[in-house]
Amino acid sequence: MKTPDRHLTTVFSYYRDAEMRGATLLLRLCSMCGPGDMQSALSRHIMDETRHAWLWTKRIMDMGGVVESLDDGYQRRIGREGLPRTLFDIFALTVVVEQRAFTRYQQHLARPDVDEETRKTLQSVSADETWHIGWIESAAKEMARAQGDPTLYDQAIAKYQVIDEKVTQELLQHERNLFGFCYADPFKPEDLEIARRNRARWQSEAAQSMELPGVKAAVAQALAGA
Ligand SMILES: [Fe+2]
Ligand SMILES: [Fe+2]
Repeated sequence: MKTPDRHLTTVFSYYRDAEMRGATLLLRLCSMCGPGDMQSALSRHIMDETRHAWLWTKRIMDMGGVVESLDDGYQRRIGREGLPRTLFDIFALTVVVEQRAFTRYQQHLARPDVDEETRKTLQSVSADETWHIGWIESAAKEMARAQGDPTLYDQAIAKYQVIDEKVTQELLQHERNLFGFCYADPFKPEDLEIARRNRARWQSEAAQSMELPGVKAAVAQALAGA
């Protein structure tokens, strides 16, 4: 049996986690905003993010991989750096988070070693991110203007970009440490050899840990007679 590519299924679990936690943050925004257009935009946005989470879940399942529940993904790490308190701050952080998601998907798409199904998923999720960035950005700018100081927007974005950059570099290094290269980095020919060696290792680990039905039955028989 073919062993699923653990590097990819782990990366997709991180993408899925970011989409799920993004939707959670938007749900929080719903309870902080009054009635009107903001609620409509948030509803549509939440639908998109949960669809993205499902597309990554499905991609992992189609590859025969294990969907991981993560506690050290992008948003968790951002949260450890200090959570935004005000509505305006959550909007500003969301602009930066959406930009990061879009950038990461584009970096992955730019590589030549992307299979057809993954390429389709990356393109599908990226298509929605442009609208997400657009409406959240204009809402945050309007909030800054309403507070009488449009520069508040740039200040908040700059503050969250510093946190985003730190967390992103940590995550890239984590992926390189685990698998030998990172799908956000530009493609290098040696990545193919690293991926081949990883696959061979997983294959032999899977073969060694194979459960044999005959052995299981023999153990059950021995236990029953004990
Ligand atoms: Fe998304
Ligand atoms: Fe998004």
